Amino acid sequence: MARNCRTAHGDACLIDSRATWVIMRLLPAGRASAPLAGPGPATGQAAHRNPMKPSHPLASLIANNREWSEKRRTADPEFFTRLTRLQAPEYLWIGCADSRVPANEIVDLAPGELFVHRNVANVVVHTDLNCLSVLQYAVDVLKVKHVMVVGHYGCGGVAAALNNLKLGLINNWLRHVQDVSQKHATLLGKVRQGAPRVDRLCELNVIEQVVNVCQTTVMESAWERGQDITVHGWIYGLNNGLVRDLDIDVADPGIIESARDRAVNAVFAQDTMQA
Ligand code: CO
Repeated sequence: MARNCRTAHGDACLIDSRATWVIMRLLPAGRASAPLAGPGPATGQAAHRNPMKPSHPLASLIANNREWSEKRRTADPEFFTRLTRLQAPEYLWIGCADSRVPANEIVDLAPGELFVHRNVANVVVHTDLNCLSVLQYAVDVLKVKHVMVVGHYGCGGVAAALNNLKLGLINNWLRHVQDVSQKHATLLGKVRQGAPRVDRLCELNVIEQVVNVCQTTVMESAWERGQDITVHGWIYGLNNGLVRDLDIDVADPGIIESARDRAVNAVFAQDTMQA
C-alpha cells in the first residue's frame, strides 16, 4: 500500500507518508520497512525495469513517466526522497474531474503541496463518503489550512445539468447542480441563454458547494474545536488559464449565509454591469 503512494500523485491517497511514518514508529527496530515495502515493480531499482511491450497501447505513457522521473531527479536529486518522507499540504482542492483542469499545475505547486479531490462538476454532497472521507482526512489528519472549491467556466457537467441533457446514470449526480439552478432560477432566467447562463451557473455551483463544505460535520467539528481553516470558492478559465476568486471565504460558521448571499449578488451584478 505504501508502495502505491510513492507515485508522487497529489490525488486523494490516504496511506500517505505520515501514516507510513506512524506505522514505522510502531514497529520494532529493524522491521520498519519489511511489512510496507513488499515485492513489486514500483519500488527501488525494480521500478526502472519496464516489462511493457512497445506495442502496448500505454507504452508511450510509461516511457513519458520514465523520462519525467529522470528529469525530476536530475533537477533535484532529493525530490522523491523528500516526498516519501512527508505529506504536509496546506490546501485541499475540490475540483472538477475535467481533464483540462490540472490542479497542481494551475497554482504551480509541487506534488505534496496540494491534496486533491475531483468529481464531475465539483459537487459536494453530504452523503458522498468519498468526498467526505477526503475532507475529513485533510482537515483532521493533514490539518490543511484552506479548502478551495474550484469550478471552471464552460463546465460540461454544469451545461448538461442546465440543458437537461439525457446522459444516463450521471444525470442522478448532476441533479445536485440542477438543484442549484432551480434555487436561483429567477435570476438565472434573466441571463442570456447559452454560454453566459452556463458560466453564471458554474459560479453559483461553486458558491453553493462552498456552503455544502461548510455545513459538513467535518467542518462544524473543526471550527467548534477552534481549528484555523477557511473554505474558499474559485473558478478557473479554460480560455486563459486564470483563476478568479469568487469572493467567498468562510472561516466561521456564523457567516455562511451572509457570505453566500454576498457572493451570489456579485455573480448577478456583473451581468448588470456588462448590460
Ligand atoms: Co467541469
